[in-house]
Amino acid sequence: MSMILTIADLKDLARRRVPKMFFDYADSGGWTESTYRANEEDFQKIKFRQRVMVDMSNRSLESTMIGEKVAMPVALAPTGMTGMQHADGEMLAAQAAEEFGVPFTLSTMSICSIEDVASVTKKPFWFQLYVLRDKDFVLSLIDRAKAAKCSALVLTLDLQILGQRHKDIRNGLSAPPRFTPKHVWQVATRPGWCIGMAGTRRRTFRNIVGHAKGVGDLTSLSSWTTEQFDPHLSWKDVAWIKERWGGKLILKGILDKEDALMAAKTGADAIIVSNHGGRQLDGAPSSIEVLEEIADAVGDTIEVHMDGGIRSGQDVLKALCLGAKGTYIGRPFLYGLGALGKEGVTKALEIIRKEMDITLALCGKRLVTDMGKDQLRR
Ligand SMILES: Cc1cc2nc3c(=O)[nH]c(=O)nc-3n(C[C@H](O)[C@H](O)[C@H](O)COP(=O)(O)O)c2cc1C
Repeated sequence: MSMILTIADLKDLARRRVPKMFFDYADSGGWTESTYRANEEDFQKIKFRQRVMVDMSNRSLESTMIGEKVAMPVALAPTGMTGMQHADGEMLAAQAAEEFGVPFTLSTMSICSIEDVASVTKKPFWFQLYVLRDKDFVLSLIDRAKAAKCSALVLTLDLQILGQRHKDIRNGLSAPPRFTPKHVWQVATRPGWCIGMAGTRRRTFRNIVGHAKGVGDLTSLSSWTTEQFDPHLSWKDVAWIKERWGGKLILKGILDKEDALMAAKTGADAIIVSNHGGRQLDGAPSSIEVLEEIADAVGDTIEVHMDGGIRSGQDVLKALCLGAKGTYIGRPFLYGLGALGKEGVTKALEIIRKEMDITLALCGKRLVTDMGKDQLRR
């Protein structure tokens, strides 16, 4: 554990501990994965200004996201099938986030349900909603998130249809895995993962199975999900979702300033500049490339968050400098979870915190909220 110093170290360990089909599910992007790669690579092009001879004592990473106090402006992004990276993954990640003091966002396509996560946490978490054709089910999901006292609804806009990820098709991804020789081999070579999974009942999409009409068993689930994402979703749908929800609303998946301006008009509390971690439109720009122009376009009309490609505390600070009030990490916490369970998620957050703290100091700042464009070389 003491030699785990970077998110890349957690990724290496996760690769060895998580069955290939689930590791690949996390470590993949759409088609050629060019946008997935650009999300990480474009951060490297941005350079800080090093400042010296300033008082670096009493530093603080504390901030707020949608009015909620956060230990650092880094939330856990919603990720589907997190409970397949590690048994009870969503529950463990939510606990790690709660203890650390950052928001956890539960995906609609999670393995552990809203109620499962609520049963092991004390503070409110956030819930991510996919709008599906079965509107009664969508309404019931909103109501369940309200009943669980979730403090924000994250509405995902960029997955009306599913981008193609070649690895998932080649691997024959499913949850739980199928019993073909290939799948049995992938699972059997990860004994720690198997022991964890044998010890939990949570091995399928528990927000859905037993709640949505016609999904009583596992065999009907895969066809249900492909049929159910709603390609008709449009800006006018935000109004009824907002009304039913009645709380803080975050719109996720904005990558264009025209869309950002539309989003600001909906009265939502924040947008997430995001390309779904490069998993949807391959060939789209990286999130960090478009962040500044989007933040400048919306100004103070809506809070701006971003995700995609953050692999260090330095990346978080670069995003803050370019106009984000908050950021999210997807794969970094999944790698931590796959590598070491709850402790690994905490480790991922600690790595990022330390990198942020040291970088802040070497840029000559004491408060993370003071980071702005003038801390970058341009
Ligand atoms: C394995 C995986 C599953 C994901 N599932 C969802 C999801 O269910 N809902 C959603 O809105 N975004 C989902 N995302 C996108 C993340 O919320 C986030 O936008 C992305 O992971 C950020 O990029 P990063 O992984 O480089 O940090 C998923 C991402 C990954 C890697």
